[in-house]
Amino acid sequence: MKFPVGTKLLGVGAGLPSAVITNADLEKLVATTDEWIASRTGIRERRIANDETATGLAIEAAVDALGFAGIEGKEIDLIIVATSTPDYLYPSTACMVQAAIGANNAAAFDLEAACTGIIYALSVAQQFISTGTYKTALIIGVDLHSRFLNWEDRNTCILFGDGAGAFVLQASETENDVLSTYLRADGTGAQLLKIPNPGTNYPHAAPEAIVSEEKMVQKFVEMNGRPVYEFAVKAVPEAVNTAMEKAGIKLEEIDYFVPHQANIRIMLSAAERLGISKDKVVSNIDKVGNTSAASIPLAFWQAIQNKQIKIPAVCALVGFGAGLTWGAAIIRWMAKDKRLEGGEQVHELHDHHFKAHHLEKETQHEPKHEGSHAHRPHNK
Ligand SMILES: CC(C)(COP(=O)(O)OP(=O)(O)OC[C@H]1O[C@@H](n2cnc3c(N)ncnc32)[C@H](O)[C@@H]1OP(=O)(O)O)[C@@H](O)C(=O)NCCC(=O)NCCS
Repeated sequence: MKFPVGTKLLGVGAGLPSAVITNADLEKLVATTDEWIASRTGIRERRIANDETATGLAIEAAVDALGFAGIEGKEIDLIIVATSTPDYLYPSTACMVQAAIGANNAAAFDLEAACTGIIYALSVAQQFISTGTYKTALIIGVDLHSRFLNWEDRNTCILFGDGAGAFVLQASETENDVLSTYLRADGTGAQLLKIPNPGTNYPHAAPEAIVSEEKMVQKFVEMNGRPVYEFAVKAVPEAVNTAMEKAGIKLEEIDYFVPHQANIRIMLSAAERLGISKDKVVSNIDKVGNTSAASIPLAFWQAIQNKQIKIPAVCALVGFGAGLTWGAAIIRWMAKDKRLEGGEQVHELHDHHFKAHHLEKETQHEPKHEGSHAHRPHNK
């Protein structure tokens, strides 16, 4: 075998909750308007999980991506799930996905790099493949931020949506689709964006002598939006430029720019700084909001569905988020949906309009999985 081994990208898949919550629905919960949200962020609606779980959506995305790739679960030997909002602290989401898809031969673990998670997962999977350790890898990004949002905080609850996205990768002795990856972190910005709960610093339960009640209530997403915005508009061009340099790819060779879907203004501003034209920007933020670790594969999947991405394509994927973390990958996309070759039905998503009054009801009562302060206003 010749080292490093090449990595082929074989499939992409999605898992989205069925319930849609529009900006108009949010107008009933917080002092906001559709106009404000759409103009400041580009978001018009997002999917919110009712009965769906992180594991369930991850499995849906995995099955979809495996179908696309024409690969069976038992062929997978590595599963990495990037998530900040797993069902449990343990077992890992990856282990539960492994069982569900019959990936009996796979190693499986979760990775946490917030919204940059899928770029980290792609890089880690590529290292395992390029050294010859594993042949076929499944990477999934999944997040259910809705479980950690304060639905009285208009600064955060308008931004996030739930979902999962996945890619399938396989070793190749002759071809390589992952042309470069570049990962960064800066923990000095850790406090800018965080979910204190359910870490050991803010546990659900502990004797008061050990952990004060005040600590136990910090359970929602906390964000200082402006500095995060400023960080992102600088980090994205820096990451893409470095990843292009590492790949030996020039700007004019980039066919599509697939950034983390946090805010359309961040995406367009970064594209402008890079000199990438608007028509190369891939975005589905209007439909799904910020789905964190799922965001890049979901945007990619949508662009394949909409036939925006045409093969062969060279794409710059770039993520940023809590940590702070950021990173980029230059990939080549050559994969065709194997189900279309076989005349099979591809994955389809069904919308059920989300009832805002249902959400109000949910937030007025204590959600099952939270403690006694579920409706307490945002901290600080
Ligand atoms: C959150 C974000 C959209 C806010 O946009 P902004 O242009 O920075 O807006 P500001 O925070 O300066 O607020 C401007 C005004 O709108 C108000 N406002 C904030 N949220 C609002 C909402 N949902 N609806 C209506 N008004 C709102 C503010 O109170 C403020 O009012 P004021 O001028 O009377 O004080 C923006 O900062 C952002 O996208 N940051 C990055 C967040 C992010 O991407 N996080 C995830 C990273 S993975």
